This record gives sequence, C-alpha cells and structure tokens, in this order.
Amino acid sequence: MLKNLFLVAAFVASVSAVSVTYPYSGVNYTTDGQNKVSWSSVSTDPKNFTITLSNGNPSDDQQLDALVDTGLGTIEVNPPSEGWPASGAGPYTINIVASAENTNSILAQSPKFFFQAPKTSSTSAPVQTAAVQTAPTTQPTDDTTSTDNTTTTVPPASGESGASGLGANTVLLTALVLLCAGLA
Ligand SMILES: *[C@@H]1O[C@H](CO)[C@@H](O)[C@H](O)[C@H]1NC(C)=O
Ligand SMILES: *[C@@H]1O[C@H](CO)[C@@H](O)[C@H](O)[C@H]1NC(C)=O
Ligand SMILES: *[C@@H]1O[C@H](CO)[C@@H](O)[C@H](O)[C@H]1NC(C)=O
Repeated sequence: MLKNLFLVAAFVASVSAVSVTYPYSGVNYTTDGQNKVSWSSVSTDPKNFTITLSNGNPSDDQQLDALVDTGLGTIEVNPPSEGWPASGAGPYTINIVASAENTNSILAQSPKFFFQAPKTSSTSAPVQTAAVQTAPTTQPTDDTTSTDNTTTTVPPASGESGASGLGANTVLLTALVLLCAGLA
C-alpha cells in the first residue's frame, strides 16, 4: 500500500516538475509593492502557467499572473485588485496552476507564508543582519566626530574623511616625499 503511494507520488512528480523556489520556508511577503515568485522547471513542463495566491480555500484564490512563461524562472507579481492581505494575514501559499481556467490543477505550491509590513530601519533587525547593516552607517558617524572635536591630532588613517585640514598636511607630506626623492 505504502509502496503504491510512493509510485503514485513519483508519477505525479514526473508529470510536472515545476517547483516553487520562492517564497521558501520562513520568508514572508510584504504588504507593500511587488512580491517575488521563483520556480524551477524542466523541459517537459507546460510552456506557461498561472500564479494564484491561496489561503487554502479554492474559492478565495486570487490570480496574480496568467500565461507566465515557464522559462522565466522568476517574476515580480503585483498585488491583486483589492491589494495584498493585511500585515499578519495568513498563512497563504503561492500556487502554480495550469491556467486561469483550470486553477484546480495545481502544478506546484510554495510553503506557507504570511504578509507583513515592509521593515523600516527603526524596527530592530536580527542581531546578525544588524551588525552587517550598521557597518556602512558607522562611517558617516566617524566623519562627524563632533564629540572629540577638541582633539587636534586627527589620525592620518582616517584618510579622505579628514576634510580640508588634512589637505594641507597631505600637500606638505607630498612635498617632503618629493624632496626626499629628489635628494636620493
Ligand atoms: C501556453 O501553453 C499552452 C500549452 O502548453 C499553449 O497551447 C499556449 O499556446 C501557450 N500560450 C502562450 C501565450 O504561450
Ligand atoms: C512572518 O510573519 C509571521 C506572522 O506575522 C511571523 O510570526 C513571522 O515571524 C514572520 N517571519 C519572518 C521571517 O519575518
Ligand atoms: C567641541 O564641542 C563642545 C561640545 O561638545 C563645544 O562646547 C566646543 O565649543 C567644541 N569645540 C570646537 C573647537 O568646536
């Protein structure tokens, strides 16, 4: 019995190998703007398909795109006419179906996901990404080190950020180097 189930599953898989690769498990869709759908396919797959947003109830399915070229592999979809579901809504799946007229023929289905408002910089991100993201932003703050403005010894390592004051020093240094080069 179990073996037969496996055989049936293998048969279904061989009929269509379209597989949703985005959204993958753990990611959410944004309530604002476009959302991405990506998939993998093989040459025996249908040449085009329709993408629907499903909450598990087929009568609620919302078509996001039709006659999508299978070869594209990825596409940004616009919100349906009534907009994306509200932040926190879900779970939903992205269904890849045979056609707009045949939405019950599901070729592939994404893992479940939710909708969430776009992240703003004020919301605390996970520690690891926060560390990565703050790296570039620390440089501008280095430039405006107004707190230790009393220190007249500007580290030469700060390079271009040292503003015009360093320019004179650089000129002097260059002159010295040229002088030394000339003497040598
Ligand atoms: C979509 O695919 C079907 C079946 O593979 C094909 O008959 C039809 O011509 C295709 N339409 C477009 C617009 O690619
Ligand atoms: C996705 O949304 C759900 C429900 O709002 C939330 O519990 C989950 O943490 C979110 N996942 C990510 C990766 O933000
Ligand atoms: C340095 O900053 C302090 C306050 O942080 C300010 O009182 C002082 O005038 C500043 N000095 C210069 C040279 O800008």
